[in-house]
Amino acid sequence: MTHPPIRVGIVGASGFVGRELSALLANDPRIALCFVQSESRAGTRSMEAALDYEDLTLFAMIERCPHCVCFATPHGIALRDAGAFLAQRIRVIDLSADFRFKDPRVYERTYDTAYTHTGPPPVYGLTEFAGEELESAMLVANPGCYVTASLLAALPIREKIEWAVFDGKSGYSGAGAARAEELSLQTRDDVLPYTLTQHRHAPEIQQFFRQPVFFTPHVLGTFRGMEVTAHLRIAEDHRNEDFLKIFRDAYRDAPCVTIQEDIPQLKNVRDTSRAILGGFSMDDHGRLVIVSALDNLRKGAASQAVQNLHAMFGLPREIPEIPPTRLFPS
Ligand SMILES: NC(=O)c1ccc[n+]([C@@H]2O[C@H](COP(=O)([O-])OP(=O)(O)OC[C@H]3O[C@@H](n4cnc5c(N)ncnc54)[C@H](OP(=O)(O)O)[C@@H]3O)[C@@H](O)[C@H]2O)c1
Repeated sequence: MTHPPIRVGIVGASGFVGRELSALLANDPRIALCFVQSESRAGTRSMEAALDYEDLTLFAMIERCPHCVCFATPHGIALRDAGAFLAQRIRVIDLSADFRFKDPRVYERTYDTAYTHTGPPPVYGLTEFAGEELESAMLVANPGCYVTASLLAALPIREKIEWAVFDGKSGYSGAGAARAEELSLQTRDDVLPYTLTQHRHAPEIQQFFRQPVFFTPHVLGTFRGMEVTAHLRIAEDHRNEDFLKIFRDAYRDAPCVTIQEDIPQLKNVRDTSRAILGGFSMDDHGRLVIVSALDNLRKGAASQAVQNLHAMFGLPREIPEIPPTRLFPS
């Protein structure tokens, strides 16, 4: 028996993540896009969604969208508006940082925004680790892209680590559409380290560890794709373990994560929904180095939202791959 499609709306549909999500959902026969919201592009066509962008009121969006709404907006918007959907039993996936923190005070400090949510507790949507919680979740917080790459490389051995350094490099689409042109010029033939300490993603990663973990990002002179080199200091008792096997076992049932011995490159993951973890090299100091590569706009954002959507609505966990989108220059 075929089920009627899950009806999904996207707020912030004209941004890089919103367009990528539109493309993935428009190509998914089990999903029907019911609106693509945009203020700046209202009345023009979304090529990815094959729908016109509309600047809808909250009431109109709720009327139009019985099953699920995705926020691909800057932080603060879902925090303000998600409650209105949840009150009508419409499920919410937020791709911003609004619901990612176990302790709302950390969110308030990190994003300088008052946490006003009083509805159902969010489920942290790192799909591979969220498990059955997603099936009944009303509100899902999609993780940050750097955070996804970092956590995938460390969570299977969280108890064996003394400390960790996550050295992240991202294409300039990571900063959103408004900054893409400026960053494309600034990083041409170059790499741009920034916020060497205290980056907003550092506390999001730290909340999963008792041990100290460190994170530094860099912007690359390429549009999309992300690599995190994870330096994981392994406790002495565990240094002789077969980490490649441990990771293969941990992700055996995870269709969007590939484990390999070779070091992955951006070209292996760009425009795909999968993360690749590779390298698995250990030095004499007990430092295990794993390279985690993914596409920041797909597994780092839109594809992960689709994985979560599938889990929430009991759909198969495989994400159909789609051809590359052309987001920039537009
Ligand atoms: N880029 C990445 O690699 C990445 C990865 C993971 C997560 N994220 C997160 O995903 C979210 C979207 O990122 P992005 O890179 O797609 O950003 P973006 O390209 O700047 O797009 C943001 C979108 O939000 C809409 N918007 C802006 N202000 C709004 C408001 N006050 N109310 C409603 N809509 C508003 C904009 O559309 P209109 O002005 O047309 O309405 C635009 O479509 C962010 O929270 C970001 O942190 C991004």
